[in-house]
Amino acid sequence: MNKPVRVGMVGAGQLARMTQQAAIDLGIELVVLAKSPEDPAVLAGAKAIFGDDQDVGSLFELAENCDVVTFDHELVPNEAIRALEDSSFRVYPSSQSFMYSQDKLYARMKFKEAGFPIPDFAAVGSDQIGDVNSFAGVTFRPLVLKSRSGGYDGRGVWVVKEVSELRELFSSLAVGKRAGDVAGKVKESFGDRERFLAENAAVEFIVEEYIDIAKEIAILGVRGQNGEFLTYAPIETVQRGGICNELFMPADISPETATRAKELAAKIAEHIEVVGLVAIEMFIDASGEILINELALRPHNSGHATIEAAYTSQFQNHLRAVLDWPLGSVEMKVPWAAMANILGGQGQTDPRTQICQISDFPSASIHLYAKKPVPGRKLGHVTVVGGEKDLLLSKARRCAGVLSGE
Ligand SMILES: Nc1ncnc2c1ncn2[C@@H]1O[C@H](COP(=O)(O)OP(=O)(O)OP(=O)(O)O)[C@@H](O)[C@H]1O
Ligand SMILES: [Mg+2]
Repeated sequence: MNKPVRVGMVGAGQLARMTQQAAIDLGIELVVLAKSPEDPAVLAGAKAIFGDDQDVGSLFELAENCDVVTFDHELVPNEAIRALEDSSFRVYPSSQSFMYSQDKLYARMKFKEAGFPIPDFAAVGSDQIGDVNSFAGVTFRPLVLKSRSGGYDGRGVWVVKEVSELRELFSSLAVGKRAGDVAGKVKESFGDRERFLAENAAVEFIVEEYIDIAKEIAILGVRGQNGEFLTYAPIETVQRGGICNELFMPADISPETATRAKELAAKIAEHIEVVGLVAIEMFIDASGEILINELALRPHNSGHATIEAAYTSQFQNHLRAVLDWPLGSVEMKVPWAAMANILGGQGQTDPRTQICQISDFPSASIHLYAKKPVPGRKLGHVTVVGGEKDLLLSKARRCAGVLSGE
């Protein structure tokens, strides 16, 4: 009998849990680098190596036990991924591609060089208030300050409307972590990335113009090792409190905007040479211009509806791409899909205790992540597909509300 194909995934959260479900269908063994036996993917039956995703030793142990390594989050030291590559382990996305999702400054600077549309931005160095002020100009305009790396779910994003807010904001943020930290690891023989990191070692934040956003969309695509790139229908995301709470697909945008967004996504995927899933978050501003916000190089919250709505889910396509298998169709098999996250409420209700309350929603597809309920945490999601767009979102939202104990 042939040995089963083994994919190693760094991280064992809900994305790894849903990747495990796809791995079962494909006859793959998923091995996750997990923190605890309670991690969502481990509870779903994925094989686990228990270790620390910040530790090169744990990453090597995972790589040694798998045919290819991939990720369910980006908070993994880039130099550790490079060490795996230097030892000839197969890692997708590559450390080079992954930089675009790990370092907002790197992504913005490279996209600017390449001429991709992005918000106007600047690096914030050690003279934090001075740097933000000189970017803002004489008449201070609303700005967005962002952690250069490590942010997620809106943690690490602050809208600044008045210059007077800056001092308090900076003093409330733990600063000075980055310098030294990165600089100390830079080698003598600088490659491009090492040089970039060394030159920007003191930068912990970026600042950018506040965009008057008319719509936020995500273009999800999958790129194979031969460069083939497929995009799912554009997804419209609805953020609340910095978290993408609800979405529907296809996005309510003109066919012309959809085409522009997909073409832009294809250029970006090619430029960064991603292998696997890529989610490109975009803003559409009041004048209809498309601006790139940020990238995730892994399955993404905005793509959960692909499980029910597309012929091939984002999870299965990610696995196929990292294994150099033929990609599956990304076409939708239903007219519309809507998804709502189940977020932990103040009462810390476990959605699993609410499952008997959802008899009003027989057509909703429920996904629970088996996580401990904490306020604001993503505990699951609900997808509803069908032909009546307006009803779908309200159904998904109401069902998610019941499950979160609202
Ligand atoms: N320049 C901007 N102008 C206006 N709003 C912005 C800007 N940048 C970010 N936002 C808002 O903040 C949200 C979170 O920002 P961003 O996606 O950069 O942060 P994140 O925490 O890394 O992301 P995620 O929630 O996807 O994990 C965006 O979806 C958008 O609603
Ligand atoms: Mg985002």
